Amino acid sequence: MSKTKTYDFDKLVARENTNCVKWDLRETFFGKADILPLWVADMDFETPDFIIEKIKDRMEHPVLGYTIRPDSFNEAFIQWAKQKYQWDVDKEWMNFSPGVVSAVTLAVMACTLPGDEVIVQPPVYFPFFRCVKGLNRVLKHNPLREKDGRLCMDLEHLEEIITPKTKMLILCNPHNPGGSAWNENELKALGDICEKHQILVLSDEIHSDLVFEPHKHIPFAKAVPSGRVKSITCMAASKSFNLAGMSTSLVIIPDKQTFKLYNEMLQTVHINMGNILGSIATETAYAEGWNWLHQLMDYLTANRDYLSNFVKIRLDSVRMLMPEATYLAWLDLSKTGLSEEDLNKLMVEKAGVALNSGTMFGQGGEGFMRINFACPRSILTEALEKIEKALNTV
Ligand SMILES: Cc1ncc(COP(=O)(O)O)c(C=O)c1O
Repeated sequence: MSKTKTYDFDKLVARENTNCVKWDLRETFFGKADILPLWVADMDFETPDFIIEKIKDRMEHPVLGYTIRPDSFNEAFIQWAKQKYQWDVDKEWMNFSPGVVSAVTLAVMACTLPGDEVIVQPPVYFPFFRCVKGLNRVLKHNPLREKDGRLCMDLEHLEEIITPKTKMLILCNPHNPGGSAWNENELKALGDICEKHQILVLSDEIHSDLVFEPHKHIPFAKAVPSGRVKSITCMAASKSFNLAGMSTSLVIIPDKQTFKLYNEMLQTVHINMGNILGSIATETAYAEGWNWLHQLMDYLTANRDYLSNFVKIRLDSVRMLMPEATYLAWLDLSKTGLSEEDLNKLMVEKAGVALNSGTMFGQGGEGFMRINFACPRSILTEALEKIEKALNTV
């Protein structure tokens, strides 16, 4: 069924009163409940029907006891990685985490010591900061630089800030919030530096399936094999198939010693088991998800282009970095001259739209906001028209 079916991403799905972070926490985070939420990175589309069906099938059995992930779970991912990224993953490299952020935290705990330095590349997905600082490691910043409308890694600066205490770099591949899908040359150049200084790379690849043509997702561990640089790659079906509430992620660690360190930490924290429905949902996504994902990407591409044209033609004071990946766009509103506080006020109170403030993402976020365009076109249009109206009053 899922191989041929056509999906309707224009369909409006009421998410209110489902304990949904994006819709049900508007009042808590923005002080106002009647605003259009284009903030949290999940999608306002229905989770694929063939996944829901598999979950329902499992619910026919009346016992939900302790569970394992079967071989077919690993096999589904291995096939996906082979076909989608031409990446050969060995079953022995595969491990687990409920979430990607918890994998980052476990990796920092397992592979570094208090006082060690961990590098991040802001503006970047902000929970990374806490994974490092919360564990008394030293957070070092290698800010991305904008070049021709794209956020790029500054490898010269990276070399300058590395010290003997630098043990890990957290890569966001593809990058949230800039949308850069790192290419092979960039990953190899980063790998050269990390090899020279023996730095472990934690590559967060949660957005790996959301890459727009003609760009491609290249796993860091594929571009830079583990014989050269030790790496931990985090992937999940959670973003691509709208399964974030299922708390199931994959952690791929080719280096045996690093695998052991991570695995021991996972067992210590005792979160290795995962949950029954999360593993069923994830396996089904990888085994059956090609057609759905293909249609999703067509819809997201059209939304991205619509958003980009709207910004160009109707929002004089806004500039958008064209994302190569992710359903998130990075909007430069610095031309408005408004402070962060005033920008937030304008969006929430005047426009009635919830966006993420750029400064949440660290250095380089000043004057920016992040918008999530994984929603039916009618919601995106309404939000943009509200933003246009509010900006016209500035
Ligand atoms: C780059 C990145 N990593 C991790 C996450 C969250 O992952 P999880 O919910 O699996 O912890 C997000 C969610 O927006 C993200 O954008």
